[in-house]
Amino acid sequence: MTQIRAAIAGIHGYVPKDLLTNADLEQMVDTSDEWITSRTGIKQRHILKEPNTAVSDMGVRAARPLLEKTGTSVDEIDLVICATSTPDLVFPSTACLTADKLGIKNAFCFDVMAACSGLIYTLTTASKFIESGSHKCVLVISGDKMSSIIDYTDRKTCVIFGDGCGALLLKPTTDGTGILDAELQSDGSGAQYLHMKAGGSLKPASHETVDAREHFVFQDGGPVFKRAVQGMSGTLRTVMQRNDLAADDVAWVVPHQANERIIRSVASMADFPMERVMMNIERYGNTTNGTIPLCLAEWEKHLKSGDNILLTAFGGGFTWGSVYLKWHYDGAAASNGQTPISVF
Ligand code: UT7
Repeated sequence: MTQIRAAIAGIHGYVPKDLLTNADLEQMVDTSDEWITSRTGIKQRHILKEPNTAVSDMGVRAARPLLEKTGTSVDEIDLVICATSTPDLVFPSTACLTADKLGIKNAFCFDVMAACSGLIYTLTTASKFIESGSHKCVLVISGDKMSSIIDYTDRKTCVIFGDGCGALLLKPTTDGTGILDAELQSDGSGAQYLHMKAGGSLKPASHETVDAREHFVFQDGGPVFKRAVQGMSGTLRTVMQRNDLAADDVAWVVPHQANERIIRSVASMADFPMERVMMNIERYGNTTNGTIPLCLAEWEKHLKSGDNILLTAFGGGFTWGSVYLKWHYDGAAASNGQTPISVF
């Protein structure tokens, strides 16, 4: 029997129009363009400033053009998964809210919270529903409104993060393309280095937690940096060995965009020349679940059917891993020469 695989059948990104540049940050905290550029590679981030808008709105703005250009009717979608760490509300899920705004009625919907590894966890989860034959048209929303949980008086975190989102369509295929393998790992003991102190059931919101500025990202960057390099390069190696892939067999590596120095270290440890490593952190910063979709969208026009692609990510949890897929469609034809990232 021919093996059914889940293939990415389309992608579209969305970033809000407002920019937060290094020059802006120099006016807000004790930092400099030189420090931010040399330590992170970031020059600017997009920030969602419109009142009463959240991840579901970014998801809708990414998904509508995707459905239109792939000729997909909302009635075909039978599963919606949203990868986010900044859900609109604690509950219901942002997947439910996004599906409702899009008019999707025939799907079951849930969120995946795996911090910056959310997309690779979600693609792996979604692929199982497709491989089993139970689901045929999965909409993945992957993004974050990081500005909603960033303390813009904390120079250690506010220079890193931005807002952004992607939407991907997954469909069954039997032509040998699609998601072929994944190595996903977690280590909850890493929570001490990257977490939000309050707002959950451990420490519900109160005047005290607000006064203590505990509803923001806390990060001890050094240990996270080290584990990110180890985790991403280690799982890339595992997936490559398991699938008999040499660096030359891989068309593109798509790393989570947390820090240019992390990306360059991972590429060099796995022997990938930077020309085949997607990197756009300079213009978007770390959009958490948005980074890998924004890379894939930006590079869509270069992607060819059969290209071997490795996605790799590391994030809070700790969570990390790598996914191996063979690209399904002719990206140049699908994108018509345009970069499929909407900005408004
Ligand atoms: O996305 C998910 C996971 N997250 C990551 O993968 C992020 C991993 N970590 C990192 O990317 C880096 O650790 C950071 C970018 C967060 C920090 O860079 P670093 O090179 O590790 O800096 P550091 O935290 O060791 O700080 C070095 C110095 C410190 O000053 P002292 O103590 O040496 O005087 C900081 O106070 O740089 C100072 N510093 C800054 N200076 C100017 C920290 N942030 C800033 C800043 N501007 N924005």
